Amino acid sequence: MTKLGGTGVLLLVLICSSRGLNLTRDFDVDESDAKRLVPELIQHHGYPVQVHHVATEDGYVLEMHRIPGEPGSPVVFLMHGLLCSSADWIIIGPKHGLAYLLAQKGFDVWLGNARGNRYSRRHKTLTPNMFAFWQFSWHEIGYYDLPAMIDYVLDLTGQGKLQYVGHSQGTTSFFVMTSTRPEYNEKVHLMQALAPVAFTSHMRSPLLRVLSVFQETLTILFETFGIDEFKPNNSILHDIARLFCSGSITSNLCLNVLFQLAGADPDQVELKIIPLLVGHTPAGASTKQIVHYAQGVRTAQFRRYDFGKIKNTFIYGMPEPPEYNLTEVRTPVVFHYGLNDYLADPEDVLQLGRALPNLIEHRQVQHNTFNHLDFLFAKDVRELLYGDIIQRILTWKVL
Ligand SMILES: *[C@@H]1O[C@H](CO)[C@@H](O)[C@H](O)[C@H]1NC(C)=O
Ligand SMILES: *[C@@H]1O[C@H](CO)[C@@H](O)[C@H](O)[C@H]1NC(C)=O
Ligand SMILES: *[C@@H]1O[C@H](CO)[C@@H](O)[C@H](O)[C@H]1NC(C)=O
Repeated sequence: MTKLGGTGVLLLVLICSSRGLNLTRDFDVDESDAKRLVPELIQHHGYPVQVHHVATEDGYVLEMHRIPGEPGSPVVFLMHGLLCSSADWIIIGPKHGLAYLLAQKGFDVWLGNARGNRYSRRHKTLTPNMFAFWQFSWHEIGYYDLPAMIDYVLDLTGQGKLQYVGHSQGTTSFFVMTSTRPEYNEKVHLMQALAPVAFTSHMRSPLLRVLSVFQETLTILFETFGIDEFKPNNSILHDIARLFCSGSITSNLCLNVLFQLAGADPDQVELKIIPLLVGHTPAGASTKQIVHYAQGVRTAQFRRYDFGKIKNTFIYGMPEPPEYNLTEVRTPVVFHYGLNDYLADPEDVLQLGRALPNLIEHRQVQHNTFNHLDFLFAKDVRELLYGDIIQRILTWKVL
């Protein structure tokens, strides 16, 4: 199996990082947190943690992490974005991380991990060094992984419904699930979408725009060379991060690269977090997940994976991939979006909002330069966003 290196570095930066200037806020983290796995990290901070394994219909074995509440406490399910993992919700520590804040409020907190990331690399018959293991995009994450995890959690807790919070691809996969398996609408009280992504034609991030132009060539290259897993060499990533992101002169360079990709927000950057991000991301994905997004940048549609006309006809019965039917998404949805988000551009978010029949709120985070990664790592994310998320969950309970 071939690894994809250089582009991976850019994408690491693109999806899962971006911090830097002002060191005033105390995130309560130390560099050793970069090396800990999520369960160990949660335990290290003094919280109870459980690890659960969930099988999907098509044979993948997913690892979920849980910060359990009292028996019978309401469930909140958190789903990460592209190249990320359950770590997203805890990296900034117990005073700020959304998973901890929810646990402090008495919720039963479940963190999902999509197939192919570092926690979900098992399958009943396949192994990650096989090409067949990586033949999925975020379609399969929405169609198989989310339903399997949701059913598991509801069965185990004996509850009928849960609260869903997703970031980026964690929203894309939710819309895939509820449009292709509408019965799952009934299993979610409220879906809060952070940086919602479905339509991508206004995406400003230069990297995905470039990818979208060369997408067909790239797909052929990936297939020819069997580049199926998107997993850059971690020690190389560390070296590059060290090169660009330490020292007083070079740190500006580091930030500029990050800002080009995710949107510039120097106010909300926390340098302390960078080593943790490099330790926890990229957490693994298939190249098809990235290609699927690049297809949407070009076509301006939210539709199934494009395999090319011949294979499409074989798989879908038509030469073009079918669109996802967003009219089927009946779960009440709240959007939280940022004006300076290069990946969930406000125009694309608006277009998605118009397509959803049950969007109850379209909320802009009140910080003009809020970017794609600020939803997870901004210094003031608790004050700017998490308080509102929790308040919506709490008030939903009494409705
Ligand atoms: C850092 O932020 C604090 C408040 O958030 C502000 O008072 C301080 O001036 C900032 N420092 C720098 C160097 O920007
Ligand atoms: C990853 O990098 C390390 C050190 O830079 C090297 O020893 C190792 O062989 C590399 N692995 C792959 C798969 O390229
Ligand atoms: C989309 O779903 C709605 C609601 O079930 C249905 O009325 C409509 O016909 C569907 N559209 C397509 C193109 O299948």
